[in-house]
Amino acid sequence: MPLDRPAVKPAPVKPAPCMLCARAMSAPAVTPFLARRPAAPLGGTLAVPGDKSISHRALMFGALAVGETRIAGLLEGEDVLRTAAAMRALGAEVVRDGPGAWRVAGRGIGGLIEPAEVLDMGNSGTAARLLAGILASHPIFAVLTGDASLRRRPMRRVTEPLALCGARFDGRAGGRLPLAVRGAADALPIEYRLPVASAQVKSAVLLCGLNAAGLTRVEEPAATRDHSENMLRHFGAEVTVESAGAGRVITLLGQPELRAADITVPGDPSSAAFLIVAALLVPGTRLRLTGVGLNPLRTGLLVTLREMGAVLTVENARSEGGEPVGDIVVTHAALRGVEVPPERAPSMIDEYPVLAVAAACAEGVTRMRGLHELRVKESDRLAATAALLAANGVRVEIAGADLIVHGTGRPPQGGGLVATQMDHRLAMSALVLGLATAEPVRVDDAGFIDTSFPGFVALINSAIADPAPALLPA
Ligand code: S3P
Repeated sequence: MPLDRPAVKPAPVKPAPCMLCARAMSAPAVTPFLARRPAAPLGGTLAVPGDKSISHRALMFGALAVGETRIAGLLEGEDVLRTAAAMRALGAEVVRDGPGAWRVAGRGIGGLIEPAEVLDMGNSGTAARLLAGILASHPIFAVLTGDASLRRRPMRRVTEPLALCGARFDGRAGGRLPLAVRGAADALPIEYRLPVASAQVKSAVLLCGLNAAGLTRVEEPAATRDHSENMLRHFGAEVTVESAGAGRVITLLGQPELRAADITVPGDPSSAAFLIVAALLVPGTRLRLTGVGLNPLRTGLLVTLREMGAVLTVENARSEGGEPVGDIVVTHAALRGVEVPPERAPSMIDEYPVLAVAAACAEGVTRMRGLHELRVKESDRLAATAALLAANGVRVEIAGADLIVHGTGRPPQGGGLVATQMDHRLAMSALVLGLATAEPVRVDDAGFIDTSFPGFVALINSAIADPAPALLPA
């Protein structure tokens, strides 16, 4: 098994007449899939697609800056294409030059125009919530909607603080989408203490503060991913960050002149997570994942997997566009169960489904504590992750907001059909589990994987030195 095969590039983006309209607006097809234990290990050097959080923000900040922002490594998943389409509908010029290479000609803060159409954010909570923040301090009317998963998700967590600037929101029961926004003409700066640790809510308030005169101040109860703060500074805004107990206080001086700045998007650690766990579970595997973002507020999974016995080394550590980046080398390892403390949740909030898969193959009990926020993700991920494991012969319990997985140290039986509930991370987690189980694991729909990880199936199959694919349509 050659360990250092040449880099496998992510599958090229399907050519489409217009990346912004045709692809972003096409409903993903329902695609049943299965995963089976491969006949050979995974190996080689892989690049994961661009970071989703940073990609959304690059397009949004680029649209609010003066001048042309060039972006390299943009994630061309459905979620980010929705943001690209929305920023274009708001008057920014958004152009794709080639795979991952995009240009945004911004309109300057306060310069966005009223969109003629409803803004459909598809499956993306980040796109909808951050955009609500931008719209709140622009004197325009807009309507936000999304797919059935997004229309179920709570929006009051952003509309409540954003209303403090003078914006008006009208939505469905529980503040859900579709949501009509009438932005404030002279937005007031907001002071807000987040009731839950959420980078989306923090970022929505900061984005709103860009077009409010004076100091916007957000206090978060625990530190969450700080890509907005980093990127605001990168574009020339004045941002301060101070520790406050377990959390942080962030201030932003409103109405800065945001200057266009080039951005290189690192590989998404939340996408790398699936490959890391796959590598740990398949005997004989050694993978190198290049250019993965290693922002310390995103690396809780690496900490946890090391506690479980994984050997993960970081090579070539460097900084790209204000974000730490490195190559992760991972080899197959026997894992043991651990207790994951609740305070680690913000740094690995999207990684619990795939951590639960690793825990199912570990020896002993893994207790993941304080997962209440998983209830309001693309699906109820706490219940759906438990169901995913139970359907495949794993003993699992939910106790309050804790997920408890009983690993036996042997691969689970598998053979189950997993309801993915429009949730890309459930679909990928189930398929990773199927690489280890005695019987194949089926998912009802792998189509949503394209929201965050286009090329996932091809990348895994190409990393296995066996012509028979491990992941295939069911
Ligand atoms: C994100 C924040 C997190 C995360 C989501 C992306 C972001 O959501 O789950 O996938 O880009 O700010 P919450 O803010 O709801 O924790």
